[in-house]
Amino acid sequence: MAVDQEQAEAGVQVVWSGPNAAGYRGFTLGGFTFGRDDYFVYVDWPTGSHVLSAEGFLKALQRDVAWDFFYGIVNFDGVLGTVNHYGTVDLFAGRYNDAWRKAELDHVDNFPTPLIRATFQAMLNDWTNQGFDPFASPDETGSAFGPKHGDNTPAVTRHRVTAHRMVGLAGDEPLRSDASGHTVNRQFTDVEQDEPLVEAEAGFQDRVHGFNLFKYLSRSDVTWNPSVVSVCHDSLYCPTTEEYILPIIHGNDRVEWFVQLSDTIIWQVEDRDSGAVRSRVTMHPGDVAAMPADIRHQGYAPKRSMLLVWENADSQLPQLISTGKLPTNPIDF
Ligand code: PHB
Ligand code: FE
Repeated sequence: MAVDQEQAEAGVQVVWSGPNAAGYRGFTLGGFTFGRDDYFVYVDWPTGSHVLSAEGFLKALQRDVAWDFFYGIVNFDGVLGTVNHYGTVDLFAGRYNDAWRKAELDHVDNFPTPLIRATFQAMLNDWTNQGFDPFASPDETGSAFGPKHGDNTPAVTRHRVTAHRMVGLAGDEPLRSDASGHTVNRQFTDVEQDEPLVEAEAGFQDRVHGFNLFKYLSRSDVTWNPSVVSVCHDSLYCPTTEEYILPIIHGNDRVEWFVQLSDTIIWQVEDRDSGAVRSRVTMHPGDVAAMPADIRHQGYAPKRSMLLVWENADSQLPQLISTGKLPTNPIDF
């Protein structure tokens, strides 16, 4: 209710239709319409149409909503996705796909962020059934499929961790514990649960801090969801636990660094604009990779693993890179 009120005040009007035979609402956003049934999501625009698995769609939509359109491009698959212009958002179909472009079937609409945010939030909430958690690993959630039955609002609106300075500091994001409902994941029972002893000089107690990141990550109940655990100016440490497949294909507008903290992730790396294959990167514990600013990537984690994503939040980067003032790679050897 509060959200509706805020949206009304911001002049945001979500356009939806009444439930279809399967119980799901339809949504209209600019030239795009979205519908779902038991298994699939159907997307239509003036020059084309597309069909996606409802499960894959909801997992991608969940990330796009929770990350507020993230950095650069969030591809739901090889056809559909969003581009964040940090104030407005493009919704596109076929735009970053060579074949669709050549056939002139691609389409892009640009929206003020509050409108696409509210529409995506409403769609995610209406289309997520009771028992399905789009953030959970396949082994730890129920099914996305079937006619509409109930909802899972607590899961699809869960708080995203974004520390101001560092997790565990007074007034900042809290550490995780059994008491806070964050139990150790089934695949991380071997992770030490101690905390470092921090002995700060008098007067510096709120400025010197440390915590056990492995313990913190072992207690994550979600997958493929980087959270900001420490901040130094534009330098954000965004670790995450991964299992199965990253539900989006991320198109970069800046360089991102990956540090593999445990287990293995295989990255498929493609050209950001055409989708042409560029490389496959297999990362083992201790491996470090820099993803260039002109690629898109999707990760595969055979077992739950810990990954540190290191982001540079400098808002000037996309323009500096797209105008050639900065290179697309961070380092020349
Ligand atoms: C990424 O696109 O870089 C990314 C997104 C989510 C993750 C990990 C990496 O969990
Ligand atoms: Fe990325």
